[in-house]
Amino acid sequence: MSKKTMPKNFLWGSASAAYQIEGAYQEDGKGLSNWDEFVKIPGKTFKESTGEVAVDHYHRYLEDIALMAEMGLQTYRFSIAWTRIFPKGKGEVNEAGVKFYEAIIDTCVQYGIEPMITLYHWDIPQALVEEYGGWENAQVVDDFVHYATYLIERFKEKVTYWITLNEQNIFTTFGWLTAMHPPGKFDEEALFYKVNHHAFLAHAKTVCAFKEIHPNGKIGASFAYSPSYALTSKPEDAMAKMDFDNLKNFWWMDVYAYGRYPKTAYTYLESKGVAPKVTQEEAILLKKAASLVDFMGVNYYQTTVCEYNPLDGATPYAQMNTSGKKGTNEVTGVPGVYKNPANPYLETTDWDWSIDPMGLSYACKEITSRYALPIVISENGLGAFDTLTSENEIHDPYRIAYLEAHINALIDASQAGCEIWAYCTWSFTDLLSWLNGYQKRYGFVYVDRDEAGGTMNRYKKDSYYWYQDVIKSNGGSL
Ligand code: BG6
Repeated sequence: MSKKTMPKNFLWGSASAAYQIEGAYQEDGKGLSNWDEFVKIPGKTFKESTGEVAVDHYHRYLEDIALMAEMGLQTYRFSIAWTRIFPKGKGEVNEAGVKFYEAIIDTCVQYGIEPMITLYHWDIPQALVEEYGGWENAQVVDDFVHYATYLIERFKEKVTYWITLNEQNIFTTFGWLTAMHPPGKFDEEALFYKVNHHAFLAHAKTVCAFKEIHPNGKIGASFAYSPSYALTSKPEDAMAKMDFDNLKNFWWMDVYAYGRYPKTAYTYLESKGVAPKVTQEEAILLKKAASLVDFMGVNYYQTTVCEYNPLDGATPYAQMNTSGKKGTNEVTGVPGVYKNPANPYLETTDWDWSIDPMGLSYACKEITSRYALPIVISENGLGAFDTLTSENEIHDPYRIAYLEAHINALIDASQAGCEIWAYCTWSFTDLLSWLNGYQKRYGFVYVDRDEAGGTMNRYKKDSYYWYQDVIKSNGGSL
């Protein structure tokens, strides 16, 4: 048993997202989202899987939260589906949708579980996409802020921790560069930066409004942070790493924390004619929000390697492993700037994601030195194939080993001076992986369903009991 533990007020948690767990996609007045439509396009998801039923959390949330309570979970991060609150994105409130989330919050609070709300986890109302192009149009900023402030007003007495946007870098990259997420656009670089700019403004206006409405609450964005390493000490590789960081990491984190874009990345994008236009008023807003933000939310799964990429080299549009067949990921990059080969020192998951516990510590230290902000690890976990035995048990030592190594790295970061408020594993129950179907499992609780459906029965995995001990000992059991 280690003597190392996390600080006293630290929160041990787990996370989910509405589309990936709820199902009930047309119940109780919910409107349709971009994802409800996108999954109908043949070939977009693994074996045409959808979240129409997902893991039926909408009807089983009481059972799921009771399982969280029995485990001793201290915080539960979940997202709210915009379409349950405003089915058309704006206009009349759908009270049934609000009541659903209120019941989740109240159930958590009764059990002593701190609710943590994500306002946007990728599911924009389809009505707004059809009306004006969703994130592509600046009109989205006020509609988002209207939706967000409605919820903040409504739940401010009960919820302290709020996350504006989940992985803005991922939903915009997949949506406007690689066509893997809605709206399925390919290589639209200028639009990609414009969309991001709108998302930054929506985040910033929400943060400013939040501080007026809920001054004691805590708010931040969740960034999918993949720290980078240079492949070699060749200056070209070191420069590739620096350019990658400015374009792929600091482009987002600097705006959240400093309220401005990294200058060299901006200059490079300007020279390509794709940099977003920033008005003086917007610059002031971004700076104000950055001064008010409480924490950096980090979704950490893996690190990246950077190597110089010649002009005729790798592009961002290479094949991604969504089948779980190891070795099917291709190298991506930006010609003339960087490419991201595999790390020869690291093992990978079946989906070719590198496994790098020290990278989590690296991420925390980088954020601490660069931004001096507290950190919420809003996601971390292992997607794997699991087997349900005939005794209804799931032996997942690989998940325990993954989480144990990452939590040890987190404790190291905490002891090195990083202020870490919470750690949420991805995920509590198994759920739908957007592009990888139901076979890529992340939960502590197995859900008996596959692409074809199932009983939806819940079974505790070995990792469930293991995390229970970790929480009870505040990390000391590791
Ligand atoms: C994050 C998302 O990108 O990683 C989650 O916030 C997602 O919604 C998780 O499920 C794991 O990714 P994947 O592709 O394995 O489901």
